Amino acid sequence: MAHSDYEDSDFTAESESMMDIEADSDYDEISSQYDSCYSSGSDNTTTLFSEVTNYKFEHGRRYHAYAEGLYWGPNDDKQNQQLEIFHHIFTMVLEGRLFLSPIEQPKKVLDLGTGTGIWAIEMADFLPNSQILGNDLSPVQPTWLDFPAIPANCTFEIDDFLRPWTHTSGSFDLIYARGLYGCVDEWPQLLSQAYNALAPGGWFESVEVKPYFCTETTPDNKLAEGTILKRWGELAVEASVKSGRPLDIAGNVGGWMKRTGFVNVSEKPFKVPYGPWPKGERMKMIGKLMCVNVLEGLEGFTLALFTRYLGWSAKQYTDFHNLIVTEMRDPHLNLWVLM
Ligand SMILES: C[S@@+](CC[C@H](N)C(=O)[O-])C[C@H]1O[C@@H](n2cnc3c(N)ncnc32)[C@H](O)[C@@H]1O
Repeated sequence: MAHSDYEDSDFTAESESMMDIEADSDYDEISSQYDSCYSSGSDNTTTLFSEVTNYKFEHGRRYHAYAEGLYWGPNDDKQNQQLEIFHHIFTMVLEGRLFLSPIEQPKKVLDLGTGTGIWAIEMADFLPNSQILGNDLSPVQPTWLDFPAIPANCTFEIDDFLRPWTHTSGSFDLIYARGLYGCVDEWPQLLSQAYNALAPGGWFESVEVKPYFCTETTPDNKLAEGTILKRWGELAVEASVKSGRPLDIAGNVGGWMKRTGFVNVSEKPFKVPYGPWPKGERMKMIGKLMCVNVLEGLEGFTLALFTRYLGWSAKQYTDFHNLIVTEMRDPHLNLWVLM
């Protein structure tokens, strides 16, 4: 999905407001603040470090500390493992491709809400002459000190993409945004910032999943009234709307992009099976991986949403969760999600 040349657009570049910063003239004070920023272990560094790593715990799960409460998902090992399984599913669905935008060698790439950073790392390996930057609220990505170390052309930063961006206009050739459902309050505002940060001819690629199951067993693919799975989807959407950051946005992003000024916008829907019900080795494997993905992620998908925004207790959630797991195992439901 591309955007037109800047001359065609009438958006306001948020990052240009950075040109208006008024300078402090108290050089002694500035100097001492630089000292505290540069010396590791200083109070200031410790404060900045702890601001992002002083994780919050709720009902036994770990959540991000920076911009606390903004994101619904835990950032612990269990949920990170789910994100990596989902990444594998995404790449299987795209038959090994990491992105679909028709750009051969994007030089500078931004991965919004990078999660574990797996997409950014694979992009950096795939495009060794490109620079890949991933941002997130949680510092859960590997570093150069880990084994295997991240590629030298891949960097991560802790940042809240809902705040005004500080990237120079035209910085990126490709901005990738996957799985930002329930993370964004004002999509048009986020897309304006992305538009501004893209170089002319650059591409924005959004990958989202509908936050509820569909079934092959009914003519309209909707689950029957009264099923726990249907109720789960409805409650998840309701809670996310209450949070101010709706989950049910797949299928809307293209329209918002067009209104922002992007051109050549196209959408490519995929049906992703849940369970080993499809025929054929590849689809069956995707279905099985989806089972592992959902079972691993299920608690973390909606625990915070239901307890924070619907007033549920952890016990209520656990009981409901157990019913979902039982219903999902029904071999006759032939479930799938739309991506
Ligand atoms: C569902 S995960 C998807 C992760 C990754 N894009 C992927 O597809 O594997 C959403 C990610 O967005 C991050 N996120 C949510 N709100 C954010 C914000 N305002 N700024 C930066 N990252 C955010 C979360 O911390 C989380 O890692």
